[in-house]
Amino acid sequence: MPSMGVTMSFEHLLAPGHIGTLKLRNRIIMAPMGDCLSNVDGTVSDNQAAYFEARARGGAGLLLVGSVSVSYPYGSFDERQTAASDDIYLPGLIDLTTRVHRHGARIAAQITHNGQMSLLDTANGRPMLVPAPPKAPKPDHISTMVTEGEVAAMMWAYTQPTSQLSYQAATESDLAWVVERFVDTSERCQRAGFDGVELHAGHGYLIDEFLTPSMNTRTDGWGGAVENRARLLVDILRAIRARLGPEFPLWIRINAVEHHKTDGETFEEQLRVIELAIEAGIDAVHLTAYASTDVATGPTDGYAPHRYVKDAVGSLTEYARILRSRVAVPVITFGRMEPDEAEEVLAEGKADFIVMGRKLLADPDLPNKLIAGRSDDIRPCIYQYRCIGNIFVRDSVHCVGNAQTGREHDLAVGPAASPRSVLVIGGGPAGLETARVLSQAGHAVTLWEAGTRLGGMLVHAGAADPLLERYLGWLIRQAEQNGVSFTLAKSVTVDDVRAAAFDEVVVATGATWGRPPLPGAELAHVFTVPELGAWLRDDGDQVGARVAVIGGGKAGLSLADLCHKRGRTVSVIEPTHVFAPELGIPGRFRLVADAEANGIDLVARATVTGIGEATVQVRVDESDRSIAADTVIIASGASPAPGLADALRAAGIHAHVAGDCHQLARIEGANLDAAAIALSLS
Ligand SMILES: Cc1cc2nc3c(=O)[nH]c(=O)nc-3n(C[C@H](O)[C@H](O)[C@H](O)COP(=O)(O)O)c2cc1C
Ligand code: SF4
Repeated sequence: MPSMGVTMSFEHLLAPGHIGTLKLRNRIIMAPMGDCLSNVDGTVSDNQAAYFEARARGGAGLLLVGSVSVSYPYGSFDERQTAASDDIYLPGLIDLTTRVHRHGARIAAQITHNGQMSLLDTANGRPMLVPAPPKAPKPDHISTMVTEGEVAAMMWAYTQPTSQLSYQAATESDLAWVVERFVDTSERCQRAGFDGVELHAGHGYLIDEFLTPSMNTRTDGWGGAVENRARLLVDILRAIRARLGPEFPLWIRINAVEHHKTDGETFEEQLRVIELAIEAGIDAVHLTAYASTDVATGPTDGYAPHRYVKDAVGSLTEYARILRSRVAVPVITFGRMEPDEAEEVLAEGKADFIVMGRKLLADPDLPNKLIAGRSDDIRPCIYQYRCIGNIFVRDSVHCVGNAQTGREHDLAVGPAASPRSVLVIGGGPAGLETARVLSQAGHAVTLWEAGTRLGGMLVHAGAADPLLERYLGWLIRQAEQNGVSFTLAKSVTVDDVRAAAFDEVVVATGATWGRPPLPGAELAHVFTVPELGAWLRDDGDQVGARVAVIGGGKAGLSLADLCHKRGRTVSVIEPTHVFAPELGIPGRFRLVADAEANGIDLVARATVTGIGEATVQVRVDESDRSIAADTVIIASGASPAPGLADALRAAGIHAHVAGDCHQLARIEGANLDAAAIALSLS
């Protein structure tokens, strides 16, 4: 991302706008994101209210609460889905909207019936309401790359004593009930102080299941012609308008297209649906995309794009541009845009509002930082998909790069009551983050780093993954701005620490990278990641034409990608069937699909039995295989290195520990450790 503060004013992105009668202070809308932050009875939780309040305080114009159930617990995907289907939910919802309004932001509810994804119905033995029973799923091979724990979480709905998978093709009276649920919920949202309602008419939920020919195979007045398939949507819109009048801000989120389906929605037909919705009184169109759930890259091809490519045919912003040329209501678009790209989309007239999801999860203050000309201070999203991956496995929304996300109440760290002098030992991701949060809280922080530069393993990781390099740059800048005092090339002994006499000591010395006990592991062409440091920064002949990477985690795949980009032929050897398990599921599937598309040989369930001069021997599913390799990279040999922390404790010096030196949990774990230390010292 360019340094934007100097060159860009974001005049379009930060300009006020309106959706019908709803006036917004700028064009930044927080994406609707089902967060699983509610209490288990669907009521708003403390963390959830604080999560939205943080983003209101951060300057967004409008916040969307994702996937609010109109019929909880019926037609809902999880117990912790936000509910607005009864007055018992009102107190929490009123508190939520009040806290958001306090900061000048507006808030709207995205309301939904989850149709064939109403897993709470399955778990409780109730049929799921659908237009017609769906086809049996046929997941592709990448879709099987999930861990045992993830499978258990995803199968939860099917494994309860009460579970029963069944469908009910909606009858006339069911559909009348559905319409009434949407109307009743919209009215309740209005009473709760919501400034508008977005009807979820995309992403394979009930309304969309009626729209798409791939699911709506009905032959009655609700199926067949597009006007029939749009009837449920139009009936709901008309009924809401009849109850709430013409002024209440009301719009839809709808797929432009469905990818990877031969019988899915087409843009031309969806334009007709939008035309009908406009006639029924909507104030805006929020255009999204969906894909077959059988295809592992569906989410990143559809509603959670992995890349933004300007003017790309078939991209969300291109569909938005075409739509905007045909309709008079505002068009809302999104898709992993940097603020300067979002500004350009608006300036070029392709859309009226920009929805941001992951960027606002990573940094709730993004809008205010743009306003203040401090775009370099925006905490970058590193696209590890923990946020959305968690929703796939029934966990709450959290963020690899921001420990507070989804824990705004539990991990609220304010200014320290009694600031202390703190020594942080280690300048990798854990040490830097600890230094950053402690200095921000008002502690006087000194950081000692053994190496000659800051970053630890992030320096190497950043060479293979530019997002991590950017994240490291941000961490260092923030710690510097907060006044952290750095000393580099400082090897630390227990005596040094005792002599320095800081109030608090944090050990964040990271992991060690070893070689596996394998025949051939000591050969000259076998390298651990730190041993490749120079090559990672600049290509050279240290790495030969054929590379075998041992370890198919995120690091292994990123290294393989770098080798591929530098013209090497690459194999990645992984003992399990899951590559990059650290990533949230949609991100993992995307990384694996990209690796396969680039011709990287992913060797799963493979145990390395030996390394030779030009081959790596592996055992895969009871048979032996030889993989040609001029260079072997060990990307799996990290282990905690608690030595210094143990030595300090043995010497009677109390030390906090952060990051991989005590537990391998990468950036996410480091950030949680840092937050916990900051909380304990607040
Ligand atoms: C944690 C998470 C939950 C999501 N849940 C929903 C949802 O409930 N409804 C919806 O329409 N989209 C949902 N999405 C998709 C987002 O609205 C948005 O399309 C996506 O994050 C892409 O925008 P971005 O590139 O700005 O992140 C979710 C995304 C994330 C990250
Ligand atoms: S979890 Fe990853 S993808 Fe999601 S917001 Fe955080 S950094 Fe971005």
